[in-house]
Amino acid sequence: MYTNICDQLGIDVPIFAFSHCRDVVVEVSKAGGLGVLGAGWFTPDEFRVELDWIDAHIGDAPYGIDLVIPQKYEGMDETDPVKLEKRLWETIPAEHLEFARKLVADHKVPELPAEETERPALPGATYATALPLFLEGVGRPNCKLLANALGTPPADIVDLAHENHMLVGALCGKVKQAIAHRDAGLDFIIAVGGEGGGHCGEIGSVVLWPQVVDAVAPIPVLCGGGVGNGRQMLAAMAMGAAGVWTGTLWVTVEESAEPPAITESYLNCTSEGTVRTRSWTGKPGRVIRNAWSDAWDAKDNPEPMGAPQQFLVSNDAMRRTLMYAGAGDAQQVAMSPVGQVIGQINEVESCRSAIHRLMEEYIDALERVNSLMPE
Ligand SMILES: Cc1cc2nc3c(=O)[nH]c(=O)nc-3n(C[C@H](O)[C@H](O)[C@H](O)COP(=O)(O)O)c2cc1C
Repeated sequence: MYTNICDQLGIDVPIFAFSHCRDVVVEVSKAGGLGVLGAGWFTPDEFRVELDWIDAHIGDAPYGIDLVIPQKYEGMDETDPVKLEKRLWETIPAEHLEFARKLVADHKVPELPAEETERPALPGATYATALPLFLEGVGRPNCKLLANALGTPPADIVDLAHENHMLVGALCGKVKQAIAHRDAGLDFIIAVGGEGGGHCGEIGSVVLWPQVVDAVAPIPVLCGGGVGNGRQMLAAMAMGAAGVWTGTLWVTVEESAEPPAITESYLNCTSEGTVRTRSWTGKPGRVIRNAWSDAWDAKDNPEPMGAPQQFLVSNDAMRRTLMYAGAGDAQQVAMSPVGQVIGQINEVESCRSAIHRLMEEYIDALERVNSLMPE
């Protein structure tokens, strides 16, 4: 199957897989799609280790990296990660931290071991913390794509990526964001509908995709938010997509490194079991609905801070519920980003079989559509 972006990247099928797991990135790229590793939760040292591992296992296949640099945020002028984190902590009311602490304690999640509390709490979700991550990836021969969430990536990052022959794109949930990405000289746009996992806008995929395709033509658009089978992929391609951008599809795969309790919560989640909430990062993001999201979204409780401050508020909960995923009612206060398409994903499969399945279903659906035409 061929689209221009496949040709530019040297991939066989236009299936792009966002994941925080290096094994998923490698397996998707080796199966003919393109794996994209999310940098946001790693420190630069950890990210280097992940990328070294990918380079050692991926053979000749290309892969991508993904940053999260919001367009506008508190502390944007600060480029020193340590000073930025200190400054952000000073803006957070004690009431918010106490509310978060009590929620986690009420659900019987153990405290972090002392050595773990030394780690910076601010993830790579600011320019100051994302730039060092980007610098670990850029210049690696197989690292061919950069994506950014929550805004147009800063010009210095775009320029350096281009000098290193990477294609640069960014996610959007509205036409006006797509146009801003186009005007900044990006090579492709990722249009993600409101049903998608993680940060997303309000507009549904079927409405958003063709609007973005038309607004930025001839720039290639990868369409995401709700693609988990070949019929959904065909819908995206029929609306002018150059490929599909998927995230939820990979949270339950065999190669995923999620703790078993988290995989189980994903497999049990229905399409109506997710919610778009600001309670984890400060920006609206779709996650499994649970006691944490309900508590922060309730009218009389503290309102979540903006990004990146809410990342700091939720940091302790995120880390404890990951480290002790199966303890107490940890999943009730755990952050599990996921899209509505999770409701149709009920069993574990390998990355390679997911790619093959999508392509087979795509061909069947295409034949069905063609058969509807008169001879
Ligand atoms: C577990 C998970 C984590 C995510 N984290 C990020 C992230 O760090 N950066 C990013 O650009 N997108 C992130 N996303 C969103 C994906 O890039 C993508 O837009 C979305 O998953 C597409 O919709 P789908 O979930 O319906 O496939 C995440 C999605 C999931 C499911």
